[in-house]
Amino acid sequence: ATVPVLTVDGPGGAGKGTVSRLVAARLGWHLLDSGALYRLTALAAQRRGVSLDDETALAELAADLDVVFLAEEEGARVLLDGDDVSRAIRTEQVGDAASRVASLPAVRQALLQRQRDFRQAPGLVADGRDMGTVVFEDAPLKVFLTASASERARRRHLQLQEAGVDASLSSLLKEIQARDARDMQRSVAPLVPADDALELDTTSLSIPEVVDRLTEWLAQRG
Ligand code: C5P
Repeated sequence: ATVPVLTVDGPGGAGKGTVSRLVAARLGWHLLDSGALYRLTALAAQRRGVSLDDETALAELAADLDVVFLAEEEGARVLLDGDDVSRAIRTEQVGDAASRVASLPAVRQALLQRQRDFRQAPGLVADGRDMGTVVFEDAPLKVFLTASASERARRRHLQLQEAGVDASLSSLLKEIQARDARDMQRSVAPLVPADDALELDTTSLSIPEVVDRLTEWLAQRG
């Protein structure tokens, strides 16, 4: 039997990361944070002095990434070349570089199989932009989470504050809008809901409400 996948796509700050992690924990499923792979590629490029315009070199870097995702019990840390980069990949600057790197077809291709390898029993929750449209096109349940841009900026702001990172709300809003535009307008795997995705606007929903909705939908599809 094929391993079930729940895809959770949408723009940044819609709550995908937190919700995906909680749904995976509740079900005992694996978790793929695909955005982290683009962030890691961008960070690796920075560290090695690879230009964000050099598509061939970036694709090679993406294919050869030495990454370890440690489980929740181990602090949910991310290691790049053995280095704990859990914080380093979360900055706005790396997020912005990630969205540039993610617009390159060769980089997306290089990360495709690595993402599909996360599909292991008993199931996978896959968080990203193109999980339902490209990477797991056959997923039995696809969700597209949205929220207003100002609400997403507010959430990002809170998240950064909790992580001890300073950022202004207005600059976050600008960055979110710029990144949305780039993610939606790129020619490969643009940010759009899959035809068969269920859309959920989370602007006025709490995290537990979204988690409940997704698990209900899964139970109905199950
Ligand atoms: O979700 P996160 O903010 O970590 O993603 C960083 C960037 O990686 C996004 O802005 C997007 O450009 C890119 N990305 C992507 N496809 C995915 C996940 C992330 O293009 N599946």
